[in-house]
Amino acid sequence: MTNIAQIEASAYHSQFYETLEALPKSLSDLLTTYSRIPKDHQIDHVVKLRDEAYADFPYPCIGTFRFLEFDLSAHYAYQEHVLSPLKMPFPDNTIEPLFLDLGTCFGQDFRKLVHDGALVRRLWASDIDSKFIDFGFKMFNDADKLPMDHFLCPGNLISKSPDDKLHVLDDKVTILHLTAVFHLFSLEDQKAVADRCLQLLRKDTGGPVLVLGAHVGSLSPGPYQRQNVSQDYSHKYRHDEESWKGLWDYVRGKDAWKNKIKNLEVKSRLLRRNKVKDAESGEITVFTRPDPGSNLLWQMYEVWVTFT
Ligand SMILES: C[S@@+](CC[C@H](N)C(=O)[O-])C[C@H]1O[C@@H](n2cnc3c(N)ncnc32)[C@H](O)[C@@H]1O
Repeated sequence: MTNIAQIEASAYHSQFYETLEALPKSLSDLLTTYSRIPKDHQIDHVVKLRDEAYADFPYPCIGTFRFLEFDLSAHYAYQEHVLSPLKMPFPDNTIEPLFLDLGTCFGQDFRKLVHDGALVRRLWASDIDSKFIDFGFKMFNDADKLPMDHFLCPGNLISKSPDDKLHVLDDKVTILHLTAVFHLFSLEDQKAVADRCLQLLRKDTGGPVLVLGAHVGSLSPGPYQRQNVSQDYSHKYRHDEESWKGLWDYVRGKDAWKNKIKNLEVKSRLLRRNKVKDAESGEITVFTRPDPGSNLLWQMYEVWVTFT
């Protein structure tokens, strides 16, 4: 169903920023200490790679440099439910956590985890296109630091091919991260994506495992078409808290899952993304409560799944 808010939303044009005055401080610190890229080369280095990537993949989050912002570490569940288990030594005979950054793009959230002290052997990433994996290694200058075989490609959420590389991690993932991925799909395809996420999750932990991330959401859920150079890189469906829960409840109720899932808990928050000036860090992003009627919001979510 299309309402007035959705028709207005369809008038948005994707933005493209030619360059940027400063990098987010957290990214610049990581490029300095982890990637060993001198401060005065960093902006040129990032903009050059961004331009190359945008020429092939004109996603709004690449055009506007949103991908430089470490969205996973800004997630309210990051410290407790992502970083802490991925850093912690696990005694013998307990289940070791396994993290997958699905749709990793430049792999900035993966590198932030490494930089924050997560154990690298627990970290995996995937993308549908190997160019993104290559861009990530160039951007972070770390081909000698990370295990190449932990970068799965092509990993296509809606592929039915038995050769798709995501199958390597079927039934193995305990923390599954997807940021700026769900909104790329129509509601029908999102059902297939949620189903694919459930397949990836580890079933025998005896406790809940986690899918988390964020994407563009709206107080008026429904199909949106952010106008872009091509349909392929556009946002297609935005959720509010209720419709997002409804999607997962629908998938959980399918024959394939209804007897296999003991509990499924969906939490999400719709937030407004704001850029503000910070004396120490330059420009930073802060998340605040949305204005009434907003249809371009940021939805952070957690989906906790306990299998029978
Ligand atoms: C908008 S980018 C966001 C990437 C990153 N997570 C971030 O927050 O910056 C979307 C990513 O999803 C990947 N992608 C697109 N379609 C996909 C599919 N069918 N299966 C898996 N990944 C896909 C793209 O290649 C791209 O890296």
